[in-house]
Amino acid sequence: MECFKVIGGNKLNGKINVSGAKNAILPVMAASILTENECKISNVPTLSDVRNMVKMVEFSGALTELDIDNEFLKITANNLTNGEVPYELSSKLRASFLFAGPLLARMGKVKICMPGGCAIGSRPIDLHLKGLDALGAKIRKGWGFIEASAPRGLKGGEIYLDFPSVGATENLLMAACLAKGETIIKNAAAEPEIMELARFLKKMGAKIYGDGTDTVIIEGVKSLSGCDFTMMPDRIEAGTFMTAVAVAGGDVEICNVIPSHLDPVTAKLRESGVEIKELKNSIRVISAGKIRALDIKTLPYPGFPTDMQAQMTALMTQAGGTSIITETIFENRFLHIGELTRMGAHIKVQGRTAIVEGKTRLTGATVHATDLRAGAALIVASLVAEGETIIKEIEHIERGYTNLENKLTNIGVNIVRTQISADFQ
Ligand code: UD1
Repeated sequence: MECFKVIGGNKLNGKINVSGAKNAILPVMAASILTENECKISNVPTLSDVRNMVKMVEFSGALTELDIDNEFLKITANNLTNGEVPYELSSKLRASFLFAGPLLARMGKVKICMPGGCAIGSRPIDLHLKGLDALGAKIRKGWGFIEASAPRGLKGGEIYLDFPSVGATENLLMAACLAKGETIIKNAAAEPEIMELARFLKKMGAKIYGDGTDTVIIEGVKSLSGCDFTMMPDRIEAGTFMTAVAVAGGDVEICNVIPSHLDPVTAKLRESGVEIKELKNSIRVISAGKIRALDIKTLPYPGFPTDMQAQMTALMTQAGGTSIITETIFENRFLHIGELTRMGAHIKVQGRTAIVEGKTRLTGATVHATDLRAGAALIVASLVAEGETIIKEIEHIERGYTNLENKLTNIGVNIVRTQISADFQ
């Protein structure tokens, strides 16, 4: 079993490069099966989620070519043979449900395993299904599966999402591209990943208007074509590096970013006293390691991203004063707090709010990455912990961070990947 061993205390300096965006490439991969032609995607991040999604694309009958060294992926879905996503594949990642819309649009039917809950919450799919129903799909549920069919094709419709769900907006956007007539999605999510999916679909020939706002209009087309596409950088990976520099202190240029995607994170870090310089494609973070306490509330974009909440909670353990962190997106996204407490943090959870008392002395400990961003928070905390921190279950971290230990080593972090004996797992 592999783990990360981090020895805290180093200041960080130099440049660090951000990889392609995980949460953008997963829907783009699902969207690639909307056409019979080849789609070539560049700046592909090397992540286990991408590899699992490749398996799902192949299971549908599409051909793939993943070149890790050159960071590109080709998908050709000229002969889709399977509209079913089995438990063994869908249980690996919830984004598997993003195949529902494209498979339904291309094959007229889909049978997909119910994704179920995960560590951070129950994560229902009711909004995806309500939307597909509004596009004319017949939906049946039972025996752990969802079956949807539209043998004569999907029809455009008006959909109001009760909550601006990122996944539901993506699924419906993809399904509506090949539906007959016009679809309007109201209260749609406006995250940069939605705009990235729309940019990809438009390159394939889709007619989409208003992406990035709360009302997205899609005029269905008969077919889509292949395209060459370069993935945008990962704003959450960049934000994680920003908090790492903020907590450890130092001067680091985070390269290959779109600074405006990080506005909510930049604003909060500036409020906490960290100096941030926005350049054209990079952000320079300069920190003396002195942090002011903050109040943070997670919200849909352009609000503060829930995917940065855990890392900011770790940072606030080093702030002078009390910080109030409110999580409004997921009901159970405080799993990192137990582990941070084991490192010496003083944090109380009351419902959806965490009260973080700073500044606390953190000490190295053996801790578990319970989910992807909880793992990122433990890395952030370990940078200022005294002595050695052992982070276990790093497979969660590898779902979202490419070459993490090499990238962090290059800016001065003392981190190694190591094995722990089965007796100590
Ligand atoms: C995506 C991101 C995830 C991020 C989240 C919110 C991917 C692969 N994952 O997840 O990293 O944290 O957006 O920015 O892109 N909900 C319902 N019914 C539904 C769908 C969602 O009630 O049908 C609820 C969820 O339980 C959750 C909230 O809506 O409480 C937000 O979920 P959603 O925006 O759908 O997140 P994901 O797309 O799953």
